[in-house]
Amino acid sequence: MRFVVANWKMHFLSDQARDFCEAFLADYVPSPSVTAVIAPPFHLIRPVADSLRSRQVRVFGQNGHAEPNGAYTGEISMAQLQDAGCSGVILGHSERRQFFGETDEALVAKVKAARDWNLLPLLCVGETLEERQQGRTLEILDRQISILARTGPTPLWVAYEPVWAIGTGLRAEVGQIRQAHAFIKSRLTTLMNQNFGPVPILYGGSITPETFPELLDIPEVAGGLVGGASLDPLKFATLVKQAG
Ligand code: PGA
Repeated sequence: MRFVVANWKMHFLSDQARDFCEAFLADYVPSPSVTAVIAPPFHLIRPVADSLRSRQVRVFGQNGHAEPNGAYTGEISMAQLQDAGCSGVILGHSERRQFFGETDEALVAKVKAARDWNLLPLLCVGETLEERQQGRTLEILDRQISILARTGPTPLWVAYEPVWAIGTGLRAEVGQIRQAHAFIKSRLTTLMNQNFGPVPILYGGSITPETFPELLDIPEVAGGLVGGASLDPLKFATLVKQAG
């Protein structure tokens, strides 16, 4: 099974999302070997989930609060994501870590809350350019993955996204990706009991239909987490086809 996840970030108004879904569904060929996911901004979760449900495209949140409810102005809970039609949630995206101060500590609680509300956590990890240049890539990945020692067993997907490759047009080299994925896999084997089966490890960072086939050839790569290219319905449909 391969996985292709669209991260729309803070893009699209209602009309644009409607047009996207129409164009995407016209071109989308469901395959038993690919799971396609769209993570829209909050206000589009329900309409996107409604228009995609019958075609087996899953909808994820882009972030969620660990508490089920309470006085947290501007936040959305895992319970609310689930209520809106999500079956999973992206957690620990580098933009959340970088711009909103998301800590590993907060992520322990978020992963647990996602599991408790039957949302599949898609945990993002990855090093900055500076950290890579300092030779600290594996140390950073180790720290980010090690939160799973404190969450208890959970179904999980992981995305390796080198921060310097996100939205930059730069892509990690095959050797760098293989090394990072193999490292993450070995840490997961130690940290998690395998009750939920093997954890898919996706790659993310400037994926396009031009680069995706080569990435999919890497045996350690189970799919892609896609930002920019996922805003174009035909490109996203192409990426899903390529993974099939
Ligand atoms: P990008 O974003 O494909 O635009 O680089 C990926 C991501 O942020 O998940």
